[in-house]
Amino acid sequence: MGQRVITVAQQKGGAGKTTVAAHLAVALSQRGFRVGVIDVDPQGSLSHWHRIREERFGEDYTGLQFASVSGWRVGSEVSRMKRTCDFIIIDSPPHVETEARTAIRQGNLLLVPVQPSPTDLWATQATLQLAKSEGIPARIILNRVNNKSRIVEMIEKELTGALTKTRLANRVIYAAALMEGRGVTEVEPTSPAAIEIKSLVKEVIQFFPKEEVEEDEDALEMA
Ligand SMILES: Nc1ncnc2c1ncn2[C@@H]1O[C@H](COP(=O)(O)OP(=O)(O)OP(=O)(O)O)[C@@H](O)[C@H]1O
Ligand SMILES: [Mg+2]
Repeated sequence: MGQRVITVAQQKGGAGKTTVAAHLAVALSQRGFRVGVIDVDPQGSLSHWHRIREERFGEDYTGLQFASVSGWRVGSEVSRMKRTCDFIIIDSPPHVETEARTAIRQGNLLLVPVQPSPTDLWATQATLQLAKSEGIPARIILNRVNNKSRIVEMIEKELTGALTKTRLANRVIYAAALMEGRGVTEVEPTSPAAIEIKSLVKEVIQFFPKEEVEEDEDALEMA
């Protein structure tokens, strides 16, 4: 246990890092996993979301362990959370290479949200390179995809194998749920957005060796 640390990183600002981190964390927790969330971003968006969650629903409800730390402390926080969590999700800042590198280094899997735009795509190379140099497997998740545009086709062609099967559409509920400190799987469990996030959860679980998730099989069947 304890080898399931997922870093969400992407040099480009506004790509969807915090969105992916929050909804993924909630959905994993709903499946019975003990989830830790670490905000390494000085902007503190995820911390803000978590604060609203605590204030609205009380500490017991959140189902998440939470920490907001600066980059140099992320290693010790991960080690601490590994004692009590099945999954740890790290949300990282844009632009700051040292912070992002530290966060990526701590992960067993890097998730890179990419919006189908040339600038997002170009910015992704630096993040992927960082993961490669650290020997961390990376998966790109297409975010805010609505139509099968030419650029989506180009991305699919260029990045085959590195993409998650799941892609997230542009949906207001992703932002609305965060505003109230929740995840889409809590707000509307049968909505298309919740289905996308559940599909991401499945992929993430499958990414890690089976024996590591067996203890949670009962919880999985309930979900
Ligand atoms: N799939 C989506 N559908 C609709 N809105 C989205 C989606 N993904 C992200 N957004 C919105 O886009 C904005 C940026 O998303 P988010 O904050 O998750 O990006 P980020 O990569 O964490 O940004 P930063 O680099 O500043 O940390 C937010 O307003 C968020 O609500
Ligand atoms: Mg963010």
